[in-house]
Amino acid sequence: MTDNENLRTPIVCVMGHVDHGKTTLLDRIRGSSVAAGEAGAITQHIGATEVMIDSIIERSGASGMKNNFIVPGLLFIDTPGHHAFTSLRSRGGALADLAVVIVDINEGFMPQTKESLQILKRFKTPFVVVANKIDRIHGWQPHENASFLETYNKQSERVRADLDNKFYEIVGELYNSGFNSERYDRVSDFQRNIGIIPISAVTGEGIPDLLMVLLGLAQKFLESNLHYNASGPGEGTILEVKEEKGLGTTIDIILYDGTLKKGDTIIVGSLGEPIQTKVRALLKPNPMGEISAEEKFQNVESVTAAIGVKISAPNLDDALSGATVRAANPENLETIVKEVQEELEEVQISTGTIGVTLKADTIGSLEALVNELQKEDIPIRKAEVGDISQRDIIEVSAIEDPFNAVLIGFNVKMLPDAKEKAKGADLKIFQNDVIYRLIDDYKDWVKEKKE
Ligand code: GTP
Ligand code: MG
Repeated sequence: MTDNENLRTPIVCVMGHVDHGKTTLLDRIRGSSVAAGEAGAITQHIGATEVMIDSIIERSGASGMKNNFIVPGLLFIDTPGHHAFTSLRSRGGALADLAVVIVDINEGFMPQTKESLQILKRFKTPFVVVANKIDRIHGWQPHENASFLETYNKQSERVRADLDNKFYEIVGELYNSGFNSERYDRVSDFQRNIGIIPISAVTGEGIPDLLMVLLGLAQKFLESNLHYNASGPGEGTILEVKEEKGLGTTIDIILYDGTLKKGDTIIVGSLGEPIQTKVRALLKPNPMGEISAEEKFQNVESVTAAIGVKISAPNLDDALSGATVRAANPENLETIVKEVQEELEEVQISTGTIGVTLKADTIGSLEALVNELQKEDIPIRKAEVGDISQRDIIEVSAIEDPFNAVLIGFNVKMLPDAKEKAKGADLKIFQNDVIYRLIDDYKDWVKEKKE
């Protein structure tokens, strides 16, 4: 095999509907390894969990295959509820190399499940589906950390039939969303068929299978994408902008390329001009526990992709979730400022012509919303990140054509003065935290109004 020196850890996004078990799954992956005395095999990152290859192989009981793998491990990103889009962006496409879509097997597909699939389809990201909470199936006999087939074969006939029925409902839903799928052990070509892995994030059943399938996918489809320039300038995506006691505003990022060092000049995407600042500290979680705020983090001199890290630096207040962070030097500084700016302008449209007005919580979600509306040929006047303000209400209610005096808010609040202003104002406002609901509501309203 080729040189694996510069093969970075694949980034795996865990997505799915609220409460279907994303965080529990990652906790379990992390926790059981610590319990098994493999603390060194798992690293807690900021906003992410890294599982080293040895640990994955150990757990899957496939130690004979060790030399077949060249990726160093897997870096999992949890995407809490509404942040699904933010964390998926990177310069030039998808941040995630792979994704896991979690579906509660007892509840089936839900709005955010469909939304996750749409995003993955758009970015052409390879993914697997996990049918979670199998331990909730009535009569289920748990077998901690067992592979799925092992535990499945030990269940009663009735329980197996129940699981199969629920499982095929998910296959049907995936088909309706445009994907062929099968149980992972029956998939021979993961490019043609989506593999579904039944698991329990609570008992750990099926998790060895999940890790193995992910490794296989990473190996097969990503090798060429995972080569990177370890000594190049750092480049990452902002997951969250966060206030930390004693540090002020910090940004949690996933560094997906190069190396970032303390003291580096960085360009950070923001609502206005890109921020130009210097890395004051690079912080990783302190594995020894969170005794006090000062001991919560560990200071490091430099970090290399792929990694989740917190950056402390001056002037980060206006940093924007989902935007890019890039290290710059005096020679390329101007170019990078321009590129970061242009990237944000591409998403934040202000056509000044006719159409609806959009507001969304992050650059990633705005991008997704713009994209879906364009697919429906719905004209857009303006698209911006931020809550609905009084100014938005004034602007939109001044539009004469009632079909364009429309404000569509995705995952945003209406500020108090805007609420006041909106009373009796001449405009239609749609708000939701599911994109296709917004689009359906808008289309229904247009239809009704035209009749
Ligand atoms: P959001 O971050 O809010 O989108 O939710 P999430 O997808 O991270 O879900 P979370 O992991 O917080 O799980 C929601 C609830 O489901 C918790 O009470 C979990 O204990 C429970 N849960 C998750 N996975 C399983 C499972 O496999 N079996 C059982 N019995 N309960 C589970
Ligand atoms: Mg969660």
